Amino acid sequence: MLWMPSWGGMINGLLTLRGAWHKVAEDPVLKFFVVAITFYGMSTFEGPMMSIKSVNALSHYTDWTIGHVHGGTLGWVGFMIFGMLYWLAPRLFQTELYSKTLATTHFWIATIGIVLYVVALWTAGITQGLMWRAFDETGRLAYPDFVETVVKLLPMYWVRALGGALYLIGALLMAYNLLRTWQRRPAQYAEPIFTAPALARDYVEPPPPPSPLERTQAPVAQIGIRLEKLLLGYWHRRWEGLPVLLTVMTVVAVVVASLFEILPTFLIRSNVPTITAVRPYTPLELAGRDIYLREGCFNCHSQMVRPFRAETERYGEYSKAGEFVYDHPFQWGSRRIGPDLHRVGGKYQHLWHVGHMENPRSIQAGSIMPSYDWLLTRDLDFAVIQRRVEAMAMIGVPYDRAALTRAPALAAAQAREIAAAVAKDGGPTGLERKEIIALTAYLQRLGTDIKAPPPAATAAAAGAASGAGAIP
Ligand code: HEC
Repeated sequence: MLWMPSWGGMINGLLTLRGAWHKVAEDPVLKFFVVAITFYGMSTFEGPMMSIKSVNALSHYTDWTIGHVHGGTLGWVGFMIFGMLYWLAPRLFQTELYSKTLATTHFWIATIGIVLYVVALWTAGITQGLMWRAFDETGRLAYPDFVETVVKLLPMYWVRALGGALYLIGALLMAYNLLRTWQRRPAQYAEPIFTAPALARDYVEPPPPPSPLERTQAPVAQIGIRLEKLLLGYWHRRWEGLPVLLTVMTVVAVVVASLFEILPTFLIRSNVPTITAVRPYTPLELAGRDIYLREGCFNCHSQMVRPFRAETERYGEYSKAGEFVYDHPFQWGSRRIGPDLHRVGGKYQHLWHVGHMENPRSIQAGSIMPSYDWLLTRDLDFAVIQRRVEAMAMIGVPYDRAALTRAPALAAAQAREIAAAVAKDGGPTGLERKEIIALTAYLQRLGTDIKAPPPAATAAAAGAASGAGAIP
């Protein structure tokens, strides 16, 4: 039902044009507004719809979300801004817009661009969502190889690129148009050529005509009149006229409401679901995680397996909240151009990761993952690892004394083990001080804790080179 107020806004907007539609044909400002309002209605309907569980099961992590968000930012907000700028420029610079034709051209190019863009992503998203969840008649995943679902989308990504390019070209036309308008501004003028309507401060609302109750003059009617004013929302008008107060009150309301939500998880330990088998990352894995963040892997990879059969078949055990307690910040991601990585730990040999990072296509034909070959040559900065561990400890990650006092040494020891395994399997030698080893350690750790025996059994404390990090 959340879409209802926004649809009220959209209908209000479109009805404002009643009797003025002929102006839309000639005025580029109005053209932009009509498309903006339409996209507004569309995306505010789509958003709540996508929050419905069954719709979200299909749309989440796909390009549908990306299409939805861009419909909102480029279609609704972008077009609104274009319209406003074309309206403002003549009034600010006191001259006619340099070229109305150019503005209309911008409108058409941008409209075609955004429609191509959004339709391509909708199609890509739904295709992707359906392929991920498809089973064949034997009950197995119809597309077990993730890359199959990626290759299918490539044509749509090209259409998206074309749409985005058109939209951008339109914005450049506008920039040129506004620049030329500014250049034509008069040096001085006596009378303004264009005026804006009076600002709210000087604007007096005409008093509403007396209602039937007011006309009766009966004393009891006084109560009725007050009630009527309340219900008709006159207070709302008054409050609207007090923007500073309204802003302050809104901020207070939002802060109080947010605190109600946030404070219990901060203050009540039992509200944070923990799993005893889940331990902090080792210093080397922590360094690898920072590389994961630095390289933006989260742009293409999620780390959250949802509790659906199609997902557990593809990736393994679904993710539990307690598995992320030491992830600061968590890496759930918002989109899967590549497969989910939460259960990738232990799936491949260390050497596989080294080769895949160096050149994904040498391992997986058709992959569109970029290569990260510099990770094989860049030295890992062991000296900063200590401070990274301390930072995590400061926000509550339970590191032990060993990790808190000699993290670089622990990291170096774990790195030597992994590099030795890579070399033994026939991979490149001498990687023990390279960034690739830290990233591999991190990837091999992902999602493995709940499979490992509880920490008491392994005796290895947090921070030691323990657990799945060493298991290929
Ligand atoms: C442009 C999107 C993109 C980016 C960025 C990206 N990947 Fe990938 N990744 C993919 C695609 C697509 C695949 C599937 C094909 C393949 O295996 O190469 C994949 C596969 C993988 C796999 C294999 C997963 C499995 O279960 O088989 C791993 C591991 C991986 N990526 C790690 C990373 C890491 C680490 C980074 C950052 C350094 C990264 N990726 C950045 C797109 C991306």
